Amino acid sequence: MKEGTPSRTSLKIARMGVYYGRHPDFRDICPPGLADTNQKLLEAVGLLPSVAHRVYGSPAFDKLIEVTDRHLAPGANTHFPLRKRFVEDQVRAAGVQQLLVVGAGLDSLAVRLVHDTEMRCVEVDHPATGNVKVRAVNGSGLAHERLELIQADLAKVPLSEALTGSTWDSSVAGVAVAEGLLMYLDDSAVRGLFRALHELMPPGSRFVFSWLRAGPDGPVMTGWIRSVIAAGGEPMRWWIRDKELAGFAAELGWRLLPAVDLRVTYLDGTSIAEAGMTDWEGLSVVERVD
Ligand SMILES: C[S@@+](CC[C@H](N)C(=O)[O-])C[C@H]1O[C@@H](n2cnc3c(N)ncnc32)[C@H](O)[C@@H]1O
Repeated sequence: MKEGTPSRTSLKIARMGVYYGRHPDFRDICPPGLADTNQKLLEAVGLLPSVAHRVYGSPAFDKLIEVTDRHLAPGANTHFPLRKRFVEDQVRAAGVQQLLVVGAGLDSLAVRLVHDTEMRCVEVDHPATGNVKVRAVNGSGLAHERLELIQADLAKVPLSEALTGSTWDSSVAGVAVAEGLLMYLDDSAVRGLFRALHELMPPGSRFVFSWLRAGPDGPVMTGWIRSVIAAGGEPMRWWIRDKELAGFAAELGWRLLPAVDLRVTYLDGTSIAEAGMTDWEGLSVVERVD
């Protein structure tokens, strides 16, 4: 994370939400309102230049994205809209009254849900990105009395400390989200996050998260792509094998819920039913058991 600069990955994902949310092939698998809300947030802080709309609507950009997907990051085009959709569906399915988004970045999940549900929503992010998000929410007119934004570097400040004095209520069932975050923390910070959420939410609460999938030789994500992301100031530090995830979660007081088949759930019957799917990142939900 580069001090004073919002997370590049977060910005890229938020911008691509505008693209995917309007693209004829992807808009139906995106969560409702993704493109419009991302656009409002980004425009409020000058992070979506007006030329972006012409670019995103052009056949040349479609081609670039398609070629990049085919040759460099197979399945990424399907993965990011599906990740957004999966996370939102799992948050809604948790059926709870409060949402905590850790490493929220410029993502619009809490902003969308606070306006569409009765949930109380709290976000935490590194100050470099979190301060920009505050300006984006206020400047876009999307602030809400049930939405609270907290800035903390979770590598230095424990989550429970960051939430001290906030509206988060540890006695009420909740759902936490860490989307695209765990891979940027080290092992002790990841374990610390699972432990902190265990303390911050009563049994029955859920944690929805994405994780970098490892094979026998480390992450399955192409090495040079990790290097490019690291060069932007966000090196990846944590990954796990599928077969180790349930045990890892159980050690920390969480039960891994059955995996969702994203293709069957979201792609069957759509124009992209046969699209590639990346295996770089897993999407999981755990429930607090004790
Ligand atoms: C890949 S972005 C994901 C953003 C968002 N969750 C999404 O999926 O669109 C990673 C986010 O984690 C945040 N992050 C990384 N390290 C952090 C730390 N030590 N403390 C707080 N936030 C951190 C970054 O600021 C960034 O917003």
